[in-house]
Amino acid sequence: NRQSEAVFVIFGSTGDLAKRKLFPSLYNLYVKGLLSNKFAVIGLGRREWNDETLRGVVQEALEESNQQLDKVDSFLTHFSYLSFDVTNKDSYKGLKQEIENKEKDFQLPGNRIFYMAMAPEFFGQIAQSIHNYGLKETNGWTRLVIEKPFGTDLQTAKVLNNEIREAFAEDEIYRIDHYLGKEMVQNIQVIRFANAMFAPLWNNRHIANVQITSSEKLGVEGRGGYYEKSGALRDMVQNHMLQMVSLLAMDVPLQLTTDEIRSEKIKVLRALRLITNDNIDDTVVRAQYDEGTINGQQVPSYVEEDNVDPQSHTETYVAAKLMIDNHVWAGVPFYIRTGKRMAVKSTKIVVEFKEMPLNLYAKEHKATGPNLLIIHIQPDEGITIVLNGKKIGSADTTPVHLEYRHDSEDRINTPEAYERLLYDCMMGDATNFAHWDEVSLSWSLVDAISNAWKESARKPVNYRAGTMGPKEADQLLAGENHAWWPVE
Ligand code: BG6
Repeated sequence: NRQSEAVFVIFGSTGDLAKRKLFPSLYNLYVKGLLSNKFAVIGLGRREWNDETLRGVVQEALEESNQQLDKVDSFLTHFSYLSFDVTNKDSYKGLKQEIENKEKDFQLPGNRIFYMAMAPEFFGQIAQSIHNYGLKETNGWTRLVIEKPFGTDLQTAKVLNNEIREAFAEDEIYRIDHYLGKEMVQNIQVIRFANAMFAPLWNNRHIANVQITSSEKLGVEGRGGYYEKSGALRDMVQNHMLQMVSLLAMDVPLQLTTDEIRSEKIKVLRALRLITNDNIDDTVVRAQYDEGTINGQQVPSYVEEDNVDPQSHTETYVAAKLMIDNHVWAGVPFYIRTGKRMAVKSTKIVVEFKEMPLNLYAKEHKATGPNLLIIHIQPDEGITIVLNGKKIGSADTTPVHLEYRHDSEDRINTPEAYERLLYDCMMGDATNFAHWDEVSLSWSLVDAISNAWKESARKPVNYRAGTMGPKEADQLLAGENHAWWPVE
């Protein structure tokens, strides 16, 4: 498959992302035969490493991620390293030469992937230099893979986008949102669009509300500096949470093509009700963790973490009630919540169906509850359908859980999100990457929230570490007679 015959240029190959995600994912593709034997990886970084240093680091990364290691030696022969200064013309000239050498050595057709896995302030400059110094002049294709954060608000995102668009066309740009590489996030569309049981019910006549939770037990770890400026709103809501909302609320695309799917997702984001100073108190909860207990260990509050201002108002938790003002979803709240230092590490979607207009059993036996479709994204993967049934040997009703969880064998074979996304990028499939319109619309919503917070000058409320968030997040739903379904 000549598509996968490419040079991967990794900007930031000495960093954490390359080590934790990119090297193991490339290796998995290699072992599975999805990466042809014809490929080269050129690692770039400021450090004075050489090929051997990089290969040592790759090997270490593979050992740490518990791979079968029998193909490591041959895999490593594809790696080389260049010490690189992103602001220096000669660095790009050297890189051009190195790429051409590798293309000769491995007989590659000139396909080039430029992967930005480094500090975002250089993304624009690097993209332009790739173009200006002729690194895009090739007989094959060139693609730019770009990690988050894509800007820090709409304005900076626009500037960045304009910079990279001067060098790369929209269909050459692959903006990573790693949630889109997750098995069960990709399954949302299949569950929705390939099942007669769900497709006709997927609207405001039958669905009462949708709840999306992505909770973490970890705190900000060593990322206080970054997180202080980002907070949960920019770190998780702008990208991952809104991507899940649009996959859940999008209309059936005409076809399963990148353009059709994107265009339906974009319509959802366009229909999101704007949040302003007037409605923010009823729609968004902003919170920060206090000290508490996680896994039996006492943990400090956010403001006591390293590189965090002791007076910080940065939110480590956001819950929101999003309304989609179109005829399919009018009146159905999409509740989202995400935070650090919560009780569990869990990403789950609960779709709560409406009660039937007349349920005889509900009248007589209070035990009936709404039907639920639960999509388990992580750590477990699968779906649960909750129905009402008869309690065996009694006249009472009882909730019946129909569960489908991937068994452990499936799970071991489940590719990492990054593996899937790298493969898609090689194949030229941009469906599971964020289009500029999605990025800009989600920044508009996030900016509106952030501005309303600024205007109202309110501080975040606190929640105890190791809990599911502040009571205000429960009140958000109680106002609509809804409640969060447990995700533990
Ligand atoms: C990243 C955020 O995008 O997603 C992190 O920057 C967060 O703060 C991570 O921890 C969560 O990803 P996952 O796959 O563990 O849910």
